[in-house]
Amino acid sequence: MGLPTGVFGANGDVWKRQRRMVMAGFDPVHVRTYFPALQTVASRLAARWSKAAAQNTFIDLQSDLMRFTVDTIAGLAFGAEVNTLESDADVIQQHLDKLFPALFKRIFAPIPTWRYFQSAADRQLKASIHEVMTAVDGFVAQARARMQVNPSLYTQPTNLLEAMLAAADQPDSGMDDSQVSGNVLTMLLAGEDTTANTLAWMIHLLWRNPDVLAKATEELRQVCNDGSHLSLEQMAQLHYVEACAHETMRLKPVAPQLPLQTIRETVIGDVRLPAGIVVIGLMRRDSVSEAHMPDALAFLPERWLSEVDPGHAAHSVKRISMPFGAGPRICPGRFLALLEMKMAMATLLSQFDIQSVDTPDGQEAREHMSFTMTPVGLRMRLRKRSLV
Ligand code: HEM
Repeated sequence: MGLPTGVFGANGDVWKRQRRMVMAGFDPVHVRTYFPALQTVASRLAARWSKAAAQNTFIDLQSDLMRFTVDTIAGLAFGAEVNTLESDADVIQQHLDKLFPALFKRIFAPIPTWRYFQSAADRQLKASIHEVMTAVDGFVAQARARMQVNPSLYTQPTNLLEAMLAAADQPDSGMDDSQVSGNVLTMLLAGEDTTANTLAWMIHLLWRNPDVLAKATEELRQVCNDGSHLSLEQMAQLHYVEACAHETMRLKPVAPQLPLQTIRETVIGDVRLPAGIVVIGLMRRDSVSEAHMPDALAFLPERWLSEVDPGHAAHSVKRISMPFGAGPRICPGRFLALLEMKMAMATLLSQFDIQSVDTPDGQEAREHMSFTMTPVGLRMRLRKRSLV
């Protein structure tokens, strides 16, 4: 597709360098600095949903949540003001949305027809890639301009992009602007669908489990009654809401397949895997199996709270459900994703009462796999909560 490579697609030494650089931008100190940007985006989400509630219109859940995640990543990771939540015009998110489905289709295409003949969809994809790369180059140029005016940003970068540019400008860094752009694009893509889809599934599951919804709402309203100025410390108290996120990812992992490739010949169990073979890890098989946990198909966030030794015992649900992957390539955005999810849920549950979450035909939301696993057609109606 002609996209520059970022940490997601890099391997070997290039991956090691890029991974170090990306991880530095996600450390807790940096996330704390970015937090006000997340609060701003959450207040825009509240304003968008207040409007829909006042007009009693259906909210296209996934589309609104994607706007929330794109605006968040752009603000947090690149220091860029992207405001898709307050605009219905041609926004970057509409172009980004074309990339993952196209990538997924091309990976499985038996014949790469686009190399010989450009269909209307191929031409549209090309135009979308152009729009996205123009935006990405714009983020890089804005960051460079900020750093020129304020050189202290080289030693004390305030976001991931500034940290990447500072690293790239070191002599012998092995990094260049194309790798920086590749990682800006990677963050946008990796951080958009995954978090938005998980949130959409979570709201769907909460609606179908009223007791859990009531408990999550109670916890939130106890920690912060109006939810509009939730601090990082208050976010840390949302244990039940966080358990709801983990339980959602157990039942509806948005990355249910994890493709890996062996670097050298390896034996797993009694299976010999030659070097270079692709193995697709099925991430949901065991996490919904009665062999590993009771009531495996039920939505029970409590199972994440009641463990004596979470994370270590072999039977621990944390060892069985691995929605963020595992090992050296484990998702670097996992803490940020959880923070975003808690912030969106705080906005929803503290400021609104949910009236309905359904699909237009009233059927169970269908799972659609297009690189990430997406719920199809979920829509929500809200009523603004009156705060006394
Ligand atoms: C609910 C949200 C998310 C889920 C479920 C998720 C899941 C995953 C999974 C399964 C992987 C592959 C891990 C492996 O190979 O073992 C991954 C990798 C990655 N994720 Fe996430 N992710 C989420 C959010 C995010 C966010 C918010 C960002 C960044 C802003 C992000 C950035 C990345 C990157 C850069 C990689 C590639 C890491 C590497 O190859 O070294 N993800 N994610």
